[in-house]
Amino acid sequence: MEIQDFSPSRRVFLKKIAAAASAVYINSFIAACRTSATATTFSDSEVDVELELAAVPDDVQIFPGVLTNVWRYQGKVIKGPTETLEIIPESYLGPIIHLKTGQNVKITFRNDLLEPSIIHWHGLHVPEAADGHPRLVIDPGQEYMYEFTMMDRAGTYWYHPHPHGKTGPQVYKGLAGLIIIHDAEENSLDLPQGQYDLPIVIQDRAFDESNQFIYATSRMDQMMGFLGNTLLINGLIQEKISVEARSYRLRLLNGSNSRIYKIAWSDKSPLVIIGTDGGLLEEPIYREYITLAPAQRIDAWVDFSKYPIGSTLELVNQSNSTPGGNNPFTITSFSIGNDASDTTSLPPTLSRIAPHDPSKAVNAGSPRLFSLQMGMRMVWNINGRTFEMEDVASNEKVKLGDLELWQFENTGGQGMGMLLPHPMHIHGLQFQIIDRQIDPRYQDIYSSISDGLIDAGWHDTVLVMPGEKVTVLMRFEDFEGLYLYHCHNLEHEDMGMMRNYRVSA
Ligand code: C2O
Ligand code: CU
Ligand code: CU
Repeated sequence: MEIQDFSPSRRVFLKKIAAAASAVYINSFIAACRTSATATTFSDSEVDVELELAAVPDDVQIFPGVLTNVWRYQGKVIKGPTETLEIIPESYLGPIIHLKTGQNVKITFRNDLLEPSIIHWHGLHVPEAADGHPRLVIDPGQEYMYEFTMMDRAGTYWYHPHPHGKTGPQVYKGLAGLIIIHDAEENSLDLPQGQYDLPIVIQDRAFDESNQFIYATSRMDQMMGFLGNTLLINGLIQEKISVEARSYRLRLLNGSNSRIYKIAWSDKSPLVIIGTDGGLLEEPIYREYITLAPAQRIDAWVDFSKYPIGSTLELVNQSNSTPGGNNPFTITSFSIGNDASDTTSLPPTLSRIAPHDPSKAVNAGSPRLFSLQMGMRMVWNINGRTFEMEDVASNEKVKLGDLELWQFENTGGQGMGMLLPHPMHIHGLQFQIIDRQIDPRYQDIYSSISDGLIDAGWHDTVLVMPGEKVTVLMRFEDFEGLYLYHCHNLEHEDMGMMRNYRVSA
């Protein structure tokens, strides 16, 4: 969003226009007014949607027999459309939060767990005070209030806890949910909606004989990232999903702690990709398979009407050279039921994306370098530094409004050491992926997944493979403050493979 600095007189003028215009216009005006603030505060009448979310211990039925102890988010709509929260029946996943671009949102989080926590809205462009930084954790029994204007594009985002050192176990216990944003541009397209718009949250878990989660924390698990042996879809064992013979939109989220998926259709049809982390692509992309790293989202479009009624189409994970990737398996299968009337068709043009121009970056030609390393004592770090709550190094200070190139290099730094894939995530914004370079010595591992990397569109998480350098481009706009960037392999993150960056005017 391009936001200029308004002089006071221009503000008054705009306010008059805004009063007479649509709600959306007013909302974007409100957002514009708060340029560079670190927090947003609404008066009661300005709030469009008000929610309460509580993190609570609970039991759910994942297998027949003994219930599984989980932690999960429960939600309540205080103000705004009741459809804002969509509960996934029987699932430990939090309610899907449906929001519209331009809405003023207020969310009160209550921590009913036995340890500190805080919620982060993954992928959203929100003020510092609403980003859920680990220094903002609240103790059991306390509440935290978030206020922000929804400034993001239509797409699939998500929310999860972010307490330092505990994000992995808390997400694993069940704390996560989807945020689905709708906007006018997307509404004008003929995409499948409602029951034909299916969330597919993919998570791997391990269970003991009494149906309880096993989360191992051996040194090896932390170093590699934890891998489960049982696949859950939307928090449930879902080997079969019944669909009608028509087109669907599938919103895939890799909500796993560390597993990377190589996703394909069992009949080898190409996957039709219509969106990434930050919303719709300019036009659909066709791929034999997609590579989905932790925290990444892909929106896919599929037409089940080309398959015979009664047949089954599987979404499979193909073998690959990422950790745990040697065995292929079925993610879930779709059994195609009755013919259904379908007025939707795949739009040839999806979205107008106004990409940044890399040559306009303030550091064009010399990106900031972030070296992903394994340090002494076998701890993952970034540029040799581990996470410290408030610490910002000199190469982690950026200027509000600047367009910058950052390069993540997974080349082992100075020392030797283990190289693993690192899905790198930057808080508070969406970036473009500009360039990838692979060290030929790692070409084999790379080739096992590289055709499935989707670099078009907007992203908040990018997979950086062993031996690879990846350059991203982004603008630090609207908000000053302290934000995070980190590896979204949650065990790596908890080990300290996370740092702050500070945006200042
Ligand atoms: Cu899903 Cu710090 O992020
Ligand atoms: Cu995030
Ligand atoms: Cu990592």
